[in-house]
Amino acid sequence: MSNRKILITTALPYANADLHLGHMLEHIQADIWSRFQKMRGHDCIHICGDDAHGTAITLSADKQKITPEKLIESIHVKRLEEFKAFNIFFDQYHSTHSAENKTLVSDIYCQLKKTGYILSRTITQAYDPVKKMFLADRYIKGVCPKCSAKDQYGDNCEVCGATYDAFELKQAYSTLSGEKPIAKKSKHLFFKLSAFQAFLNQWTQLDEIIPSAIQNKLKELLEKGLKDWDISRDAPYFGFEIPEEIQKYFYVWLDAPVGYMAAFKAFCHKNNRPDFDDYWQANSAYELHHFIGKDIVNFHCLFWPAILHALNYRKPSRIHVHGYLTFNAEKMSKSRGTLISVQTYIKYLKPEYLRYYIATKLAPGIQDYDLNTQDFMQRINSDLVGKLVNIASRCAKFMSTHLNHHLKNQIEPIDFLSTIQAGEATIAAYYEQGHYSKAMRLIMTWADQVNEWIDHKKPWVIAKQTADSTNNQLHHICFIGLNAFRLLVLYMKPTLPELALRVEDFLCIPPLQWQDAQQLLLNHDIKPFEPLMQRITTDQIENLLLESTLNTTQQETIDVTITENTETIVNEIDFSYFSKMDLRVGQVIQCEVVPDSDKLLRFEIDLGESKSRIIFSGLKQYYHPADLINTWVIVVANLKPRKMRFGTSEGMILSAGEDQPTLLSLPDGLKPGMRIE
Ligand code: MSP
Ligand code: ZN
Repeated sequence: MSNRKILITTALPYANADLHLGHMLEHIQADIWSRFQKMRGHDCIHICGDDAHGTAITLSADKQKITPEKLIESIHVKRLEEFKAFNIFFDQYHSTHSAENKTLVSDIYCQLKKTGYILSRTITQAYDPVKKMFLADRYIKGVCPKCSAKDQYGDNCEVCGATYDAFELKQAYSTLSGEKPIAKKSKHLFFKLSAFQAFLNQWTQLDEIIPSAIQNKLKELLEKGLKDWDISRDAPYFGFEIPEEIQKYFYVWLDAPVGYMAAFKAFCHKNNRPDFDDYWQANSAYELHHFIGKDIVNFHCLFWPAILHALNYRKPSRIHVHGYLTFNAEKMSKSRGTLISVQTYIKYLKPEYLRYYIATKLAPGIQDYDLNTQDFMQRINSDLVGKLVNIASRCAKFMSTHLNHHLKNQIEPIDFLSTIQAGEATIAAYYEQGHYSKAMRLIMTWADQVNEWIDHKKPWVIAKQTADSTNNQLHHICFIGLNAFRLLVLYMKPTLPELALRVEDFLCIPPLQWQDAQQLLLNHDIKPFEPLMQRITTDQIENLLLESTLNTTQQETIDVTITENTETIVNEIDFSYFSKMDLRVGQVIQCEVVPDSDKLLRFEIDLGESKSRIIFSGLKQYYHPADLINTWVIVVANLKPRKMRFGTSEGMILSAGEDQPTLLSLPDGLKPGMRIE
């Protein structure tokens, strides 16, 4: 096995939102690959960092009333903790807002300019006259010019599928200010992507660089012809200023992939490695692997390789594209409570469960993967606890009672132990191809065989005998069982590094490397057994689901809570916006605590409709249900019903005060169902 030099990147997550389990799919996928390569003895470097620039970052920072710098700094610290909890190991976790990146992107730009690949053109764009900034399409909404659907974004209609220019929208408004955008001219800089058509036609169809499903999509796109790529943004913009221009900034997607280089540069500097320059040479012997989701393919398979080609640099060796993670068969969405943040997950469940579950799903290709909570619980409990760890706990018992924790030298060969040893190459090939699901399945098939073999040998019966051969018979079983266990854990180590660590401790062995599969554990003392992994309980799952739903509720509550401090009321909206919210007078008919919940009260509310509504609200700590019966409340009546563990909530009750919510009282003489305007 010759020593490979491999650089691995995972997409740099935007620094304006919490990491969620969808991000983790990608990080787990890449981390497993990186750990596998390292176990094989290759020189493998895994880097990532925060994508810290762009309008979305500025808007998030504004919302929190902090500077973008503060925002990205605090997110950075939080993320390092989250990755650590998930055992995602980066040789360098950097940021696009770094000195290295500033220098690199400026140099790259100047080089492109010198070679004639930068063009300047004046374009007309939508501009928000209140916010005094140009608006990207996602910050403009209006009525679809084709089908008249309301509230469609500036580039395409989600109802009829039409694509159009933002200026074609009817009754267009800026989602930042509610104001009508005006057309404004400005000079923009373009990267001459069209010059790389021939190169990309050929490069994107090379074998084994890009998954075939993506190759086909790219082919279609390339057949339509490439347009030059707008790489500048006007101030105000959080990013790096473009050299020799006034008030122009690099578009976030230009400096983001350069951020890979910046992270690697920081790594080389930190570790005193001279590799950086060699690495980017066109004929570099190093490998470059990008792990990305299917939504950012164009940036990685077209724009980025074209830039590298323009600079006469090396291109990616392989782009590992994955599909999306869905949650209980639903698209992960914050408003539906199906976007599980890493923070919430960690509170209730061990990260290694998710690592294994994701590994049982991953295969090459761009299909989506579902995290089904029932299936998840079952997989962990039956595979990891019931099969894998079970082998060790069954044998360890006799190692204590009869064998003084010692494995002897002599063995009788046993078929499946050599099969498991010989399977090393197959497992390695599955990891290499990114077919982790096949690796997991094969490992579990072997675990089943070992357990069946132990069942068949009935060591618990042997242990009750007092024959001369008792200990030898037990030793044989434990020897085979524990050696098989060691091999399975070795194969599992890229996926479950923490379990491997506990097992290395239990077996008193140095960190397992891939080539250790060639040997068995002979003439060796091990430690007394301690439990290696716990089962998942229904409670853990339910608490996770509940908290995720509550996070949504709280988020929405905060958004509409009437704040005391009028200074903090931001972003004016026009009347049409407000009139969409249907606020009604409601009378509480019934109110009771939800037994299994710390936070929720269940309300039955008369809104003057034929049937009363059921609404769950997080007020349990603040009110006695009996005190609320017959009182009057304000209800958001047209909020989409939401399924919760205890039933469906059909609206929301308004309160004021975040720490100590108080229901708003209403004067006498009102009727249920009256509209509040
Ligand atoms: N900042 C850019 C990437 C720049 S790389 C030079 C970005 N950030 S992101 O935070 O939106 O996404 C980061 C990665 O997470 C992307 O590869 C994206 O596909 C992936 N995922 C985001 N949601 C996901 C799921 N629900 N499931 C799987 N991956 C998901 O894009
Ligand atoms: Zn439409």
